[in-house]
Amino acid sequence: MPTYRPDLGSIPRYVAGRPIEDVARELGIVSIDKLASNECPTEPFPEVIDAIARAGAGVNRYPDSAQSELTNSIAAHHGLDAEAVWVAAGSSEILRCTALSVGGPGTSAVFAHPSFVMYRIATLVAQSEPIGVPLDENFNHDLDAMLAAIRDDTTIVYLCNPNNPTGGIRSAKDVHAFIDAVHERVIVVVDEAYAEYVTDSSYGSMIAMATTRPNVLVARTFSKIYGLAGLRVGYGIGHPELINTVRVTQPPFAVTSPAQAAGLEALKQQERVSDRVASNAAGREFLVGELTRRGFQVAPTQANFVYFEPESDASGLFDALLHKGVIIRVLGAGVRVTVGTEPENQRFLDALDTVERS
Ligand SMILES: Cc1ncc(COP(=O)(O)O)c(C=O)c1O
Repeated sequence: MPTYRPDLGSIPRYVAGRPIEDVARELGIVSIDKLASNECPTEPFPEVIDAIARAGAGVNRYPDSAQSELTNSIAAHHGLDAEAVWVAAGSSEILRCTALSVGGPGTSAVFAHPSFVMYRIATLVAQSEPIGVPLDENFNHDLDAMLAAIRDDTTIVYLCNPNNPTGGIRSAKDVHAFIDAVHERVIVVVDEAYAEYVTDSSYGSMIAMATTRPNVLVARTFSKIYGLAGLRVGYGIGHPELINTVRVTQPPFAVTSPAQAAGLEALKQQERVSDRVASNAAGREFLVGELTRRGFQVAPTQANFVYFEPESDASGLFDALLHKGVIIRVLGAGVRVTVGTEPENQRFLDALDTVERS
């Protein structure tokens, strides 16, 4: 028997949304809608698909390990110096590498609960102690409680804004004040995976703050609005010194050449990204309205998903919808449903009506 780290067995495994093919095989259902993983419901832009194909022809070579072109393009997009940008195989890699850089026995990490499960997993993989702080009664980050939870041994705090799985935001003013109140020895990771979907004017990215403070890192992804979840590409923005220090934990050639090419092309399509923001906002409003009309208490959301806690058992609702060909996610006492295309949203509601009646 190999000699494993004794704590590995107690680290929760990341549970992904069920793949369409898997459910189709198990239940023998031909048409399935997956509203489980907060993915973009439409295909990548055609120019992006072409860029992936072109890059595919060159994959006998290693990718550019410095991801120079994509880094420069992200920097230009946000009006930053390239040194402030760190490209990775999804923002999960940014989270994991950062956790490894500040973790170790005798350290702790603070995050909201429920929030993105990778904060807990990355903390435990880094052999650090997780400190989960319950959301407030509006399903939002309780920033005062999070500040109070920071201990002398805390090295990192995660803010998920908008929060996954609930979708709520904290305003730019509140997040700014929170960062001001955290000691500079603690890294504040502001995970903005769903930032592009936000339409509430009180929201603001912490990118400007990340480049001027020594301890703030913003995590962004191409997996959501840009529709590249299957390629694994995301980025961090922070002070060059922070980025230079923590990226030592990243494997070389982490971002494949098709992923780099796709990110580069996707960034050029800002007009169509705006169309996606608008259609997501319309779908989100529709789902919130229809669920509320049916008596569900939906958490305020600015993301591409909705969260509610059904009176009946959440797992039972998940199973019943699964048998109708609609995959959602159970997270704690609630369920999270990704905003899909118009027909997908309607199919979810129709399925919900049949299972709630039965
Ligand atoms: C809040 C949050 N951060 C990060 C990620 C990870 O995204 P990526 O695909 O870039 O690793 C997700 C994915 O669902 C997420 O919900």
